[in-house]
Amino acid sequence: MVTENELHELAREAVASIAGAEDADAAEEIRLRYLGRKGGLLTDVTRGLKDLPPDQKRVIGPVANRLKGLIENAAAAYKRSDAGAAREAVESQIERRGGKALLFGSIEIPEGVIQFQDAAAATGSQIDLTIPGRVPTLGHKHPIVQTMEDITEVLTRLGYTVAEGPEIELDHYNFEALNIPKDHPARDMQDTFYVSDDVLLRTHTSPVQVRVMENQPPPIKVIAPGKVFRCDADITHSPMFHQIEGLYVDRNVSLADLKGTLETFVREIFGPEFRIRLRPSFFPFTEPSAEVDISADHFAGGEWIEVLGAGMVDPAVFEAVGYDPEEWSGFAWGIGVERVTMLRYGISDIRLFFENDLRMLRQF
Ligand code: DAH
Repeated sequence: MVTENELHELAREAVASIAGAEDADAAEEIRLRYLGRKGGLLTDVTRGLKDLPPDQKRVIGPVANRLKGLIENAAAAYKRSDAGAAREAVESQIERRGGKALLFGSIEIPEGVIQFQDAAAATGSQIDLTIPGRVPTLGHKHPIVQTMEDITEVLTRLGYTVAEGPEIELDHYNFEALNIPKDHPARDMQDTFYVSDDVLLRTHTSPVQVRVMENQPPPIKVIAPGKVFRCDADITHSPMFHQIEGLYVDRNVSLADLKGTLETFVREIFGPEFRIRLRPSFFPFTEPSAEVDISADHFAGGEWIEVLGAGMVDPAVFEAVGYDPEEWSGFAWGIGVERVTMLRYGISDIRLFFENDLRMLRQF
């Protein structure tokens, strides 16, 4: 195997002879002498690289590779043009690359080994254009955004379109039209930030249901992802969080349709091995209402874990938007995006999502 010094010697010879080549044939001959598949002087060196001890590999490898590149480029230049132009091309390349840097980078070489050094001296260039560039650090989507997009993607595949509504909402849409009149005890379920008597920060995405139905006749198939606000903060509650609402209205929609949709949805998001269970519950805007639990053998020790609220749209809600409850039926659900993300990734503290600590965010 060559030593570092022998390789420098080889480089000097190769560069000298290629710079002196008369024509393309001569250059090709030189190329084969160094890079020929069989017995090429440099080919043997690069082949033997893998057997070198690491510290030698580090020194010999880059030199051998750069030399190889130079010989190839030079021979190609000869092929493309006449000898004079080719020689110029080789020389200008040497200059462009900052002379010694081309072959040796930061590796020390014996003085005067290679013309490149002269070229460097002649141009006064100290810039090493062979140093790899700085790769900019790329950002990526926040885990909450990723979950929102995943959920939205699954549901748009099921035929849902995305609807939006305001975050600063009227009491009418957030409560009244959802069958939660003033002084109804159900208002206590959600600690509301009020802006004024009639204006509030929406406590859920359900008001978007009302806005959509008010604006178009059935059938309806929408989801409404967005921010919601509640005066509540601890390890699993944040005053601002995200929900995705779903609403399907048509003739003869049944609870079985709801269950099928939710099962498909849960399996897409959590995995095909997941089961769901509908547990009777209460929401003023659905009747019957259910809380939906999920489970899988490998998940949460096989326990049922609640992930969302759902139900059949209450006739009172249809009446509030002017749909005939005798003709139309539908289901709705609301799911917390932070909760889904926490379950998916085993995160136990919701505050981690909002501290913007890169050590946390970079893990996604
Ligand atoms: N809006 C409810 C909440 O924020 C969640 C919910 C439950 C939405 C049942 C629905 C539903 O559409 O049918 O707690």
